Amino acid sequence: MARYGCGSCHTIPGIDRADGLVGPPLTRFGSRSYIAGELVNNADNLQHWIADPQAVEPGTAMPDLGVSAIDARDIAAYLYTLD
Ligand code: HEC
Repeated sequence: MARYGCGSCHTIPGIDRADGLVGPPLTRFGSRSYIAGELVNNADNLQHWIADPQAVEPGTAMPDLGVSAIDARDIAAYLYTLD
């Protein structure tokens, strides 16, 4: 997550210098019902969002960051530990 720069836009517990305020804080993400107000929060949808947010919500302020499928899976797994 540090490598992709997620923390420049999001506050993410447990990640160094992840204190961005552009996007919503990802605190307690595992307890959230929806992703970006668009998708039901489950593992498949979260990986899809992380890898390709512009496909989910064209024009969203979150850019496509070229996250690989494997990294998206690991990042999603981490976010679900935040509950
Ligand atoms: C340039 C700023 C920016 C970067 C970099 C960024 N995001 Fe986002 N992110 C956003 C914005 C803005 C939203 C809100 C999108 C919306 O609701 O349409 C968002 C939404 C999200 C959401 C849904 C949050 C919610 O409350 O529903 C998740 C999860 C997420 N981002 C994860 C990540 C991850 C993981 C990375 C790194 C791979 C990342 N973001 C990088 C700006 C960014």
